[in-house]
Amino acid sequence: MLSRKMQPQDIPEVAAIEQDANQFPWSIKNFEDCLKAGHQSRVFFNEATEMLGYTIIQKVVDEAHLLNICVKPSVQGQGFGREILNYVVEFSKNSALVLIVLEVRSSNQRAQTLYLQAGFNEMSVRHNYYPAKQGREDAVLMGLDLSFLV
Ligand SMILES: CC(C)(COP(=O)(O)OP(=O)(O)OC[C@H]1O[C@@H](n2cnc3c(N)ncnc32)[C@H](O)[C@@H]1OP(=O)(O)O)[C@@H](O)C(=O)NCCC(=O)NCCS
Repeated sequence: MLSRKMQPQDIPEVAAIEQDANQFPWSIKNFEDCLKAGHQSRVFFNEATEMLGYTIIQKVVDEAHLLNICVKPSVQGQGFGREILNYVVEFSKNSALVLIVLEVRSSNQRAQTLYLQAGFNEMSVRHNYYPAKQGREDAVLMGLDLSFLV
């Protein structure tokens, strides 16, 4: 997979993937705000320059907060999510960050399995954190400790 920094002109395509892949998608403004804030925002492509996915990482002191990771639905289940997560881990290590943290919906077993396989641990649960189709849903807070590397 090829990758490069997300540019403002990528946002319409990114937001379209986001819309297809999530029940509660980020808005265009959410992505614009991330670029303005200077968060590490990266888009991933195949050789035919088809956009496959993206990720957004916020550095908070010596931590990486994984704000978004997404693979286009038509190409999910082919290892791209794992590759993008590997990028997140490598970027964090190279930036001397000591912890990667993220929140994931308790119903999102697919993403949780991906994180657990990559060595993340469940740190805590934020009750009723997300809006859901019916009522609200818990967020599972997960972390990957990188401190032994620095
Ligand atoms: C979560 C997501 C990024 C995974 O990307 P992906 O490219 O489909 O995942 P991969 O093909 O790399 O699979 C990696 C692992 O995820 C898990 N996984 C993938 N597809 C799965 C499925 N249909 N059911 C259960 N687990 C699945 C498996 O553990 C898999 O490892 P394995 O192939 O060794 O069994 C993708 O499903 C996605 O974009 N979802 C919508 C957005 C989202 O939920 N983002 C995370 C928010 S916290």
